[in-house]
Amino acid sequence: MELDVSRGTDIAIVGATGKTGRAVAAALDGVAVVRRLSRSAPDFPVDLETGAGLVEAFTGCRGVYFIAPNVHPDEPALLSRALEAAASAGVDHVVYHSVAWPYSPRMPHHMDKARCEDELRAFGSERGLHWTILQPCAYAQNFEAVLTGDSASLVVPYNLDTKFSFVSLEDVAEVAARILVEGAEQHHGATYELGGPEMLSVRDLVRQVEAMTGRPVSMESVAVDEWMSVHGSGLGSDAQQRLSAMFEYYDDRDFLASSAVTATLLGRSPTPIRALIS
Ligand SMILES: NC(=O)c1ccc[n+]([C@@H]2O[C@H](COP(=O)([O-])OP(=O)(O)OC[C@H]3O[C@@H](n4cnc5c(N)ncnc54)[C@H](OP(=O)(O)O)[C@@H]3O)[C@@H](O)[C@H]2O)c1
Repeated sequence: MELDVSRGTDIAIVGATGKTGRAVAAALDGVAVVRRLSRSAPDFPVDLETGAGLVEAFTGCRGVYFIAPNVHPDEPALLSRALEAAASAGVDHVVYHSVAWPYSPRMPHHMDKARCEDELRAFGSERGLHWTILQPCAYAQNFEAVLTGDSASLVVPYNLDTKFSFVSLEDVAEVAARILVEGAEQHHGATYELGGPEMLSVRDLVRQVEAMTGRPVSMESVAVDEWMSVHGSGLGSDAQQRLSAMFEYYDDRDFLASSAVTATLLGRSPTPIRALIS
């Protein structure tokens, strides 16, 4: 990957201190000058709720990678604020971290990402801002503790046999880095769905861990309310409702995405689950 420096060198990652943002920043390390943005980021503190710090943090950046906080009550408002700031700062290219299957009416946080995609496309046309959208499926690393042996049990609030096209977060980050580095000339106007190479259920994933390592892993599906009272008790009611809707969806629908685009953008085969088991 070679950076086209004609439009500036720096790349800003909004949400850089979170799980996704850290992976994208690591993938850009040594390739671009990365500005890490979030409320707790020491060099570029910003607040998407108010817009504070955004224009200053974006000024001099050629590209922005926008990652919204998970299950936020109003993601479109956060994106709008960031887009206004990016346009004011003269940013060339905004890459939006969406999700596979954004138009899923049973999942409000997916629907908010569908609205964000529409807003980004409209803003780009009206204001001359270049854009790209990435739509990752569920990350394999959501089950990192079981994959690495830090945990020997898994409790999920949905059907253990629902299939997912789990994609490695490192692969998603590598694709994001490539798109940011190659920039608008190659990727303006594109929406890329990023699935992993296998369709696996939680039961399949656990069985692979057991077969490869010999470690026994207990797995259980519990009611959403029961799961939430243990794992989601610190969340506000809106976030709890959004997560519950997602789990209810996962209980009776698979969540799939092709790996064909992921492979093309990586220039190699996407990472299978077995490569993440240690
Ligand atoms: N997990 C998956 O399988 C998956 C798949 C596809 C898409 N996604 C999407 O990926 C996105 C990120 O998920 P994640 O797990 O990486 O989230 P995360 O770890 O919770 O990170 C969220 C980031 O946003 C920052 N942030 C929160 N509120 C902010 C504010 N008001 N202003 C500025 N920054 C703020 C946080 O830092 P501070 O708290 O310091 O501000 C942090 O850097 C979500 O939108 C999710 O829907 C996830």
